[in-house]
Amino acid sequence: MNVVGITCSCLPKSLSQKAVKAFLQGAEEAGHNTLLIPISKGLSGCTGCHACKKLDGFCVQQDALRPYFDALPDAGAVVFGAGIYMGYPQGEAWSFMNRHFCLHDCVGEGARCRIEPGKKLYTIFAQGAPDNPKYRANYEELLRLFDGWGFERMEPLVVTGPTSEDAIQRAYELGRAI
Ligand SMILES: Cc1cc2nc3c(=O)[nH]c(=O)nc-3n(C[C@H](O)[C@H](O)[C@H](O)COP(=O)(O)O)c2cc1C
Repeated sequence: MNVVGITCSCLPKSLSQKAVKAFLQGAEEAGHNTLLIPISKGLSGCTGCHACKKLDGFCVQQDALRPYFDALPDAGAVVFGAGIYMGYPQGEAWSFMNRHFCLHDCVGEGARCRIEPGKKLYTIFAQGAPDNPKYRANYEELLRLFDGWGFERMEPLVVTGPTSEDAIQRAYELGRAI
């Protein structure tokens, strides 16, 4: 299986990035092909140009997400990592989600998704606060969007200060068991 990892944080000691890398290492050791795509630099938001609807293809922007849209059709799983800013996934994460607008061939009723359903989506969030229901509700609200594109969402993994090593080990095991 092809497994694509996306990381939003550009911090050199990023915990979410460390966990995504551990996940991919596990997946690789289990015999899968992995690809890591950092999107903290060179990422654009959706411009609303609708080229993806007019030209019947993925987003036309040549930016940090180009390799993602190239790899997505043949991927069996995506692992996505971000830091938590102001209680929500950081801005890059929201831009990443917005850019999935191009997965539908038209707007509104009757839209067809351009990728096969059933791709697994693993999410990893790093935060300063302990794991808590309020933040989890925020993640759920945002991640629900992925249901409309046919992703099969897995329970988010939260990485937080004192227990970060355990969470990174858990990320490795999730990748290994994919
Ligand atoms: C601008 C900013 C806002 C943050 N807001 C929160 C927050 O609301 N709640 C929280 O638990 N941690 C918050 N943090 C801490 C980060 O979530 C934490 O440093 C996390 O490890 C960042 O992810 P990363 O290590 O993958 O970069 C914030 C950090 C920054 C820089």
